[in-house]
Amino acid sequence: MSTEPIESMTLRLQVNGEAVERPVAVRRHLADFLREDLGLTGTHVGCEHGVCGACTVRLDGRVVRGCLVLAVQADGASVQTIEGAADARMAALQAAFHRHNAAQCGFCTPAMLLTAADLLDRPDRPSREEIREHLSGNLCRCTGYQAIVDAVEATCRALQG
Ligand code: FES
Ligand code: FES
Repeated sequence: MSTEPIESMTLRLQVNGEAVERPVAVRRHLADFLREDLGLTGTHVGCEHGVCGACTVRLDGRVVRGCLVLAVQADGASVQTIEGAADARMAALQAAFHRHNAAQCGFCTPAMLLTAADLLDRPDRPSREEIREHLSGNLCRCTGYQAIVDAVEATCRALQG
């Protein structure tokens, strides 16, 4: 029996609703797989230590940090990136970000949008404090938090009453 370490494996998953099958190095994290292997560069990589949240994607519906998940851990799963998140609610959030000037350099914006979209699933409208708490894992190096919270709050008010 061989004792050689396994270097790569064939990964099968859904990405933004499309079946993907390709070999991947077992040490590659999901964010690099999405960006470099699939060209989905809306998923950003900042700290690679789970701190900044720029690499946020949805894995089987749950928001996760793409730099803390190995691509092979997503085998058989469904992944959604910002590129696959276009719906009416996301359009409303994006319009509010634009209106409130909530995107400066834009580096944190895709992940902020994906994380904020969670709040629109809630039956009740979150308070400003709850919005801040929910977005607290996503860092904005431009420190645009006030405008970001304004934009999310306005979207929640428009969609949730
Ligand atoms: S790059 Fe993943 S949390 Fe910063
Ligand atoms: S808009 Fe620049 S990092 Fe947030």
